[in-house]
Amino acid sequence: MCGIVGYVGEQSAADVLFSGLARLEYRGYDSWGIALAAPDGLQVRKKSGKLAGLRDLLATETLPGTVGIGHTRWATHGRPDDVNAHPHLDCHGHIAIVHNGIIENYVELREELRRQGHTFVSQTDTEVIVHLLERELADPDALRADGGYVGEYARSGAPDALLTAAVAATIRHLDGAYALAVLWDALPDCLVAARKGSPLIIGLGQGENLIASDIPAVLAHTRRVAILNDGDLAVVRAGGVEFLDGGLTAVTEPEIMEVEWSLEAAEKGGYEDFMLKEIHEQPTALRATLQGRFEDGRVQLSELTLSDAELAALERVFIIACGTSYHAGLVAKTLIEKWARIPVEVQVSSEFRYSDPLVDARTLVIAITQSGETIDTLFGVREARAKGAKAFAVTNVVGSSVTRPEAADGVVYTHAGPEIGVAATKTFTAQIAALNVLALKLAQARGTLTADEIARIFAELNELPGHIEQILLHQDDIRSCAESGCCVNACTSLFLGRGVGVPIAMEGALKLKEISYIHAEAYAAGEMKHGPIALIDASVPVVGVATDGSTYEKVVSNIKEVQARDAIVVVVASEGNESIRNRVDHVFYVPRTSELLSPIVATVPLQLFAYYIAKSRGCDVDQPRNLAKSVTVE
Ligand code: AGP
Repeated sequence: MCGIVGYVGEQSAADVLFSGLARLEYRGYDSWGIALAAPDGLQVRKKSGKLAGLRDLLATETLPGTVGIGHTRWATHGRPDDVNAHPHLDCHGHIAIVHNGIIENYVELREELRRQGHTFVSQTDTEVIVHLLERELADPDALRADGGYVGEYARSGAPDALLTAAVAATIRHLDGAYALAVLWDALPDCLVAARKGSPLIIGLGQGENLIASDIPAVLAHTRRVAILNDGDLAVVRAGGVEFLDGGLTAVTEPEIMEVEWSLEAAEKGGYEDFMLKEIHEQPTALRATLQGRFEDGRVQLSELTLSDAELAALERVFIIACGTSYHAGLVAKTLIEKWARIPVEVQVSSEFRYSDPLVDARTLVIAITQSGETIDTLFGVREARAKGAKAFAVTNVVGSSVTRPEAADGVVYTHAGPEIGVAATKTFTAQIAALNVLALKLAQARGTLTADEIARIFAELNELPGHIEQILLHQDDIRSCAESGCCVNACTSLFLGRGVGVPIAMEGALKLKEISYIHAEAYAAGEMKHGPIALIDASVPVVGVATDGSTYEKVVSNIKEVQARDAIVVVVASEGNESIRNRVDHVFYVPRTSELLSPIVATVPLQLFAYYIAKSRGCDVDQPRNLAKSVTVE
């Protein structure tokens, strides 16, 4: 949600900002803007719509300046129009800021500033920040006279002293979340950045430095990246970056990491879309996630820093997550309950936090979040830890907010590589793989599965990447089914499953609705006749997850019920099940697995099904409307 890029160096800032913002397009946005430190003051360009607008502008206009900030906005407060687009400026056009997050007390702040003579032009919460800054910078003596760390820094003689002190003084007034970057025309060779609750990284280059909401935006310049700690600030110049904590004390040893993946990993690599590329990357992602997890007859998961005795003493597991990650959590519930015999509750993060959850020191909380930045999940983890529970994160993004020591007690990484398409695909199956490992670790610690049983399950898990390769070979069959009139032109659809097939039906429905805009609802198949069957007629495609397993016959019966009401039926079934072929309209076969490992293979055809329907409808599968890859607001 919202992308921030800032640049200080020797290249054309406008060009660097454009390419950086283009690499953040996946986050979702509806307007763009840049501010540059030009010789005659700040130059600002901003507009609603996609970045093609900025590309066209740069083709016709040369914008001078080697220092600047850029933004893609995902509207929360105020329409996605030109005025609400960032950067926002103070009354006199000397200060520009870009912001990601939500300022919760902006209404009171705006009223206060209005009373003091400030004029607001936008409907955004962000605009109060730049006016607060203007107020601080208008009175340098007051800044210097401040009795605390703000005054101390303002008096320090640092070249950026006033601006940095003003930013620190400003953020003291803000409630809510922010990642922000500030450009002041009186200090045109430097940017000041700050974050609390929203992501911001610093790219450390040679003679140039960058700030950004995510790593892909800086990779063309550097692989050395520092994650700005929550509550910290950074003063960014071409020659170096000064890291400061919230009290403006220098952070002398910021955590710097070398990004292992390349720019190519975040590019389409010959595929039409990121989503299709990422669907095809699943075998590799799964292998990487499972690698080294079972050695010498033991499950290897040292990241879960609880001893076997502590794991054995657990009375309850809580899983919190949103969207696709929530569906992975539902799969994990079955795995953990069946293998480790611990009761598991799964809750969407946004509900968990406010539900006064029954967690305590004997509860393990698992937060699943691909991006590691979903604010509801971050708040949920905080709530769980405040109640005494141990909280572990399953995430794909190294250095993301959930991985910080102040967020979770430990992290289990999926190794799916960067996922750019808004629709989660490879990260979902990688999450399920990681959760299989975690469930087996719990079973091992609690002695609920024998070493042989665990070894057998691992052997089967290791076959899954090959199974997915088999499914991908048949993607054209899925494509022709998806493109058939009954699916592409449907207004609504129903996805059915039972047992571990229910979360897969839910995931199939989510994929379809988010990228094709066809309404899709998922149900436990047995629930059909308690209401939703009233919707069924010949215009409603029904997709059933009917892989082999204990409830297979029940699913088939439920399918017959919808067929009796003229529904078109598509099923995912296990290879070798010939009898189903003549009973339904389309079958997507997947290799046979044991029931509990079927979710990973059953998911892949449903991803492709949604993908091809969306493509046939002319939808932008990588950046569906209204959606953001990383949801950093509540
Ligand atoms: C799914 O395709 C979506 N991208 C969305 O539901 C996503 O899974 C959800 O927003 C949670 O994101 P997270 O895993 O990064 O926390």
